Amino acid sequence: MIWIGAEPPQAASQREALLDRAFGPARFAKTAERLREGRLPAEELSFAALESTAHGDMLVGTLRFWHVRLGEHCDGLLLGPVAVGEPWRGTGLGGRIIRRGLATARALGHRAVILVGDAPYYQRFGFSAAPASRLILPGPVDRHRFLALELSPGAMATAEGPVRASGEPVDRRRAA
Ligand SMILES: CC(C)(COP(=O)(O)OP(=O)(O)OC[C@H]1O[C@@H](n2cnc3c(N)ncnc32)[C@H](O)[C@@H]1OP(=O)(O)O)[C@@H](O)C(=O)NCCC(=O)NCCS
Repeated sequence: MIWIGAEPPQAASQREALLDRAFGPARFAKTAERLREGRLPAEELSFAALESTAHGDMLVGTLRFWHVRLGEHCDGLLLGPVAVGEPWRGTGLGGRIIRRGLATARALGHRAVILVGDAPYYQRFGFSAAPASRLILPGPVDRHRFLALELSPGAMATAEGPVRASGEPVDRRRAA
């Protein structure tokens, strides 16, 4: 049985291995990575899909969110990376982990989510290009793949200008 919950600290290396398999080394060259590098993910918004095995829990899916500033007047979250292990793809697991993530984000009071990804996949969760149309990412992007979702209606009405990382820097917590 696969269950979805908060990512346990000991699952970090399994998560990195899954992301390496899913995206290859190019994952660190993505424009979205410019909003993640050197930052901690948003609190309570790192998810793992875990399958219990005789050798312990095996991570078969991952999803994290990151704090971003959407122009001067709007805060949001960046969704991703999301990945499901190849043998489990097409079983609904990607949808389960994304819906769980979005529901938790909404319950925590977050109002807007952006991502870079395939519109034919993400539109089923309510994402579209329109709310992100006045935002500028810190690197090249195909505008058809730059998508957003207002968790609260009208939340992105003032979302205009550069998108910047606003998560806690990694070093600050290490030093604490
Ligand atoms: C994208 C991913 C997380 C989806 O997880 P999943 O468990 O396979 O997804 P689900 O089972 O919930 O949904 C499967 C459906 O999504 C569709 N789908 C999956 N990836 C898609 C894509 N990139 N574009 C359009 N549709 C896609 C499937 O065709 C299937 O459609 P159906 O419901 O009509 O049969 C998974 O395929 C994955 O890890 N891919 C590699 C990493 C990746 O590309 N991550 C997303 C980066 S933007």
